[in-house]
Amino acid sequence: MRTPLRDLDTPCLLLERPLFLSNLRAMQDSVARAGKRLRPHAKTHKCSRVSRAQLDAGAVGVCAAKLSEAEALLAAGVEPVLVTGPVVTQAKLERVAALRSAGRRLSLAVDSEEAARRLESACARAGAVAEVLIDVDPRLGRTGVSVARAPSLADFIGTCRHLRLAGLQMYAGNVQHLQDHAERRARSLELMGEGAELFRELRRRGFAMTVFTGGGTGTFDIDTGVPELTDLQVGSYAVMDVQYLGLGSREDPAAFGHFRPALRVLSTVLSANARGHVTVDAGLKTLYRDTPAPAVAAPAGGAYAYDWYGDEYGKVSVPSGAPALAVGDLVEIVPSHCDPTINLFDRLHVVEDGAVVEVWPIDLRGKSQ
Ligand SMILES: Cc1ncc(COP(=O)(O)O)c(C=O)c1O
Repeated sequence: MRTPLRDLDTPCLLLERPLFLSNLRAMQDSVARAGKRLRPHAKTHKCSRVSRAQLDAGAVGVCAAKLSEAEALLAAGVEPVLVTGPVVTQAKLERVAALRSAGRRLSLAVDSEEAARRLESACARAGAVAEVLIDVDPRLGRTGVSVARAPSLADFIGTCRHLRLAGLQMYAGNVQHLQDHAERRARSLELMGEGAELFRELRRRGFAMTVFTGGGTGTFDIDTGVPELTDLQVGSYAVMDVQYLGLGSREDPAAFGHFRPALRVLSTVLSANARGHVTVDAGLKTLYRDTPAPAVAAPAGGAYAYDWYGDEYGKVSVPSGAPALAVGDLVEIVPSHCDPTINLFDRLHVVEDGAVVEVWPIDLRGKSQ
């Protein structure tokens, strides 16, 4: 298949394959150089074909935020899967137990005795054993148990005959987007250092834990400096977005150049009657609203700027001196925030040299349970 971009209907989502593959390679090489393993998060791209490419590039498994995402991955033959968010409802726990009985490689993060007790009884009823990781709160207060209370949760899990404590998870979402690399580094090492101390302490106390997973794209080259951390569960690096592209890095205070913008929304100019801007067909329903605003990647060289113009429309400003945009022209836009933007689409059009070469279903789309 080789479909030129001009033959696509818009708005639609593009994945620039060479940039995507270079992102996978860059992360895999960085993690391997540090002697760590990669367990990338599928919450970003919601596409089992992307997860498959990550496994092919050397990842040891993948993460999912929700059980329904994990189920879609398993249905596509992608495993092992770690569910990084708490699972507590009865319906889900029964499905977890059934998957474990069927021998599927699925593990769960747990952050309370109550969640562990519920999982234990579901597994006991099904005659299954579930592998769990204690989710440790990086002082964010969203999910996770505090470092201080984690040992008593570990003791409780130790009494559950159908649970096996495999390790710790700690995702410091509160530091990933700190602009200044030195500040991000100091803060992440402080928090992940607390998790590392807990990991050592629990092992001293006889828990045979082998996994300490954590880290995001913003700290990918920082958390590798934590000796106890075994796995990185980064997500955004595979496709990138404006939020991450503008962060400071070790090399450049204003750019995060390790990974490239592989994801674009392809849109069409619908109206060009106004002075100084045109209207495109990508609005709030196709580009999730966040800060900073999306960036215009193509046509290149015009310093065009995107802003939302309601649910269905976007406003692309055309600065004086830039080549004019006309009705029917294509505009490629890099989203502010990749995860919730991808969740608005059914398909990823995989692009090479200006033509679509494959179409991948976004099969985890809408899997919010
Ligand atoms: C628990 C967890 N792990 C990993 C990630 C991946 O993070 P990033 O997209 O910053 O690489 C996320 C993203 O929100 C997350 O919630």
